[in-house]
Amino acid sequence: MKYFLGIDIGTSSTKAVLFDEMGKSLLSSSEEYDIISPQSGYSEENPLDWLNATINSIKKITKDYPIVEGIGLSGQMHGLVLLDKNDRILRNSIIWCDNRTSKEKEEIENKIGKRRIKEITGNDAMAPFTLAKLLWVKNNEPEIYKQINKVMLPKDYVKYMLTGSFSTEFSDASGMQMLDIYHKCYSHEILDAFDIKEEIFPKLTESSDVCGYIKPELLEALGFKNKPFVVGGAGDQAAAALGNGIIQPHDISVVLGSSGVVFNPILKEDIKLDLPVQVFMHAIKNTYHIMGVTNGCGLSYKWFKEKLCDYEIEAAKKLNEPAYVLINKLAANAKAGSSGLIYLPYLNGERTPHNDPYAQGSLVGIRQYTSKADIARSILEGVSYSIRDCYSLLKKGSYNVYISGGGAKGELWRQIIADNLKCDIYRIKQQEGGALGVAILAMIAAGLYKDANEAKKKIIEIKDITKAKEENYNIYDKGYNAYKALYLSLKDYFKNY
Ligand code: XUL
Repeated sequence: MKYFLGIDIGTSSTKAVLFDEMGKSLLSSSEEYDIISPQSGYSEENPLDWLNATINSIKKITKDYPIVEGIGLSGQMHGLVLLDKNDRILRNSIIWCDNRTSKEKEEIENKIGKRRIKEITGNDAMAPFTLAKLLWVKNNEPEIYKQINKVMLPKDYVKYMLTGSFSTEFSDASGMQMLDIYHKCYSHEILDAFDIKEEIFPKLTESSDVCGYIKPELLEALGFKNKPFVVGGAGDQAAAALGNGIIQPHDISVVLGSSGVVFNPILKEDIKLDLPVQVFMHAIKNTYHIMGVTNGCGLSYKWFKEKLCDYEIEAAKKLNEPAYVLINKLAANAKAGSSGLIYLPYLNGERTPHNDPYAQGSLVGIRQYTSKADIARSILEGVSYSIRDCYSLLKKGSYNVYISGGGAKGELWRQIIADNLKCDIYRIKQQEGGALGVAILAMIAAGLYKDANEAKKKIIEIKDITKAKEENYNIYDKGYNAYKALYLSLKDYFKNY
């Protein structure tokens, strides 16, 4: 039996999972770290925290399984990692949910053109993407900008440190806003417009290409008794899609993670530039996907927990349960519609469909009788309206919808999503998402599976179905219409305050 490691370098933790060649997870370990916020609206992380968390998580696994055939890395996308010519980290990474780059988004629109940037990269100019972050450093920290020798994405930095391979792959590179996604190369039109040199960017590979081996000098410290290979891997969304079997255009995944995502594989000829969705390459060679993203999904629930749920956090400690279990119970005490309370989850601006970095989180409709349970439920409902916004942009048709991510563990949230999308929603048994996705890429590289379809057939099994409840359709139609109208009426206020 051969063993494979999938490592997901997320926003709040890094998780390593060991799989056998049938995709069965045998052992997992994780380590958390914090988002650093040097001033309001700024979100940064220290790349060394990711590296240390990866090393520590690997070590916990190799204690029991020291022989690992191959490793795949998945990671939070868009984050900017900068190294100087001696490979020293130049500053903390500005990560995907950072909010400082609204001017740089406009700079991209003005220099390249709103339409042209989408024609090249598949995406409107986006404040959270890597190019806007790089331009922010150029505009605000010229001393640091001058010293840049390498620009990397989060998982690729860890890959570089573990293997020496300075590479990325197409799924994650699609979120840099410098990739010509149709020709699979960095766009000289974009780089030249901003006077950026191509050699500072990593080489582009396929997700299942072997890009290197764990450095010999690290093998012992990491506890390996062989020399595992490392594949290109994937951005967290493409990796999670693969780990949930989302490969074909009739499959959709809804991921309730820190950000919330609606992900749909798409044929190149079906890509339409007039929709406000993101278009990226999938982790499967020469395939694409579209994606709607709400920035504040799990982050909204986390905000509620941290700011308003001291009681639940303490009670959960005594019961030795995650605080979210108690908060979910609290939310379940409120009725569908949260007694008229509407939450807009725009804590970090919003991507789909508004692409508005100025948008702000809002709770509208608080009345004397509003309860804390209503607030808890309205957070779940507001994020679900945002997921519905993304879903409504997909081509009309019949899809299999799969749900995953930390938020999908909550039965109530799954139900609210099903009732809003008005369809039954599947969950698969394998809960490892991105880690499984990139482990599958390593299995393909090892020749165990011909391709992702074959791996899906052998590995992925349905766990349960959440049936949509028709009796809630009207309540949520009303809430969703109010939600959409609220953004329109608050939009100017958001920009000016
Ligand atoms: C995708 C995106 C998120 C982050 C963190 O575009 O921004 O998936 O990668 O989850």
